[in-house]
Amino acid sequence: MCAYILGIESSCDDTSAAVLNNTRVLSNVIANQQAHERFGGVVPELASRAHQQNIIPVIDTALKVANIDKKQLDAVAYTRGPGLMGSLLVGASFAKTFALSLGIPLIETDHMEAHIMAHFLMDDEDRPVPEFPFLCLTVSGGHTQIVLVRNTSQMEIIGKTIDDAAGEAFDKAAKIMGLPYPGGPLIDKLAKEGNPTRFSFSEPHVPGLDYSFSGLKTSILYFLRDQLRADSQFIEINKSDLCASIQQTIISILMKKLVLATEITGIKQVAIAGGVSANSGLRNTMLQKRDESGWKVFIPKISYSTDNAAMIAVTGFFKFIEGNFAGQHLTPYARQSGR
Ligand code: KG4
Ligand code: ZN
Repeated sequence: MCAYILGIESSCDDTSAAVLNNTRVLSNVIANQQAHERFGGVVPELASRAHQQNIIPVIDTALKVANIDKKQLDAVAYTRGPGLMGSLLVGASFAKTFALSLGIPLIETDHMEAHIMAHFLMDDEDRPVPEFPFLCLTVSGGHTQIVLVRNTSQMEIIGKTIDDAAGEAFDKAAKIMGLPYPGGPLIDKLAKEGNPTRFSFSEPHVPGLDYSFSGLKTSILYFLRDQLRADSQFIEINKSDLCASIQQTIISILMKKLVLATEITGIKQVAIAGGVSANSGLRNTMLQKRDESGWKVFIPKISYSTDNAAMIAVTGFFKFIEGNFAGQHLTPYARQSGR
């Protein structure tokens, strides 16, 4: 089998295209959108407009970097959902038209499943590939899930957030501190110089494997409001310690349920995926867990943690082998439950 798959990702604020030869990455091009920074979050209308501007150049570059002519492509895979409807429509419409004009199969993928499938990407770096079944903590800007991955097409969500996602907790905490969007990477950076035990924030009590992050946001908001009354420079003076303490709390919340999931399922192969899996604190905690508890741990490369089209293309490749193609009539879904 030798298949060339084009992947297209446009679910949020990154326009990305990738070309794979089976699971090997030949190109993975990402155009980030700066337009949202001054609004402190993604503005859906601006995002769809920027996707419209970026999509052709990004795909063109991905084909050129891969040194592949469009006529050599065997299939086009795209993100059908979940995400922002206007953003998804740009990628879906382009993918449909492109596949139709080339006379090749169209493959729809789920963005959150694709984050997990990023573990099966191959490039010049040697990384271990998980064996089935494994658990994956999938943590992004809109989702936080513990997924039992039985095989490439059978994934069961065994725990999820009942309110905010972990990435949202990072971003909202950063916003409260006056840091620009997206706050996750900045908190990660500042936390490296801070003391994670300096401040403590309450952790939620949610039964089972589910998560909650909205209480943390409120507790940070009230804590900072009280401190700022006494000292208007409080955030400025304590920025690194605040970031380290907030990051530590989020990691602690994430890890407790993940540990519980390994105990309940007996599965000790544990992966992380999604934008928040780029967090250095979470990565280090997973490595510690590997050393202390004998977990087999899988951590994606940073460029495959945050949104990218290589993960869409690799999901597409496994569906291509199964002959699992999408009809032209399919419409995107904003929420995973609307699939
Ligand atoms: O998966 P992703 O790129 O997009 C979505 O599918 O949502 O995840 C984006 C989220 C944002 O909330 C961003 O702040 C967070 O991932 N993020 C991080 C880091 N890098 C990205 N959070 C913490 N530490 C990081 N290094
Ligand atoms: Zn994502």
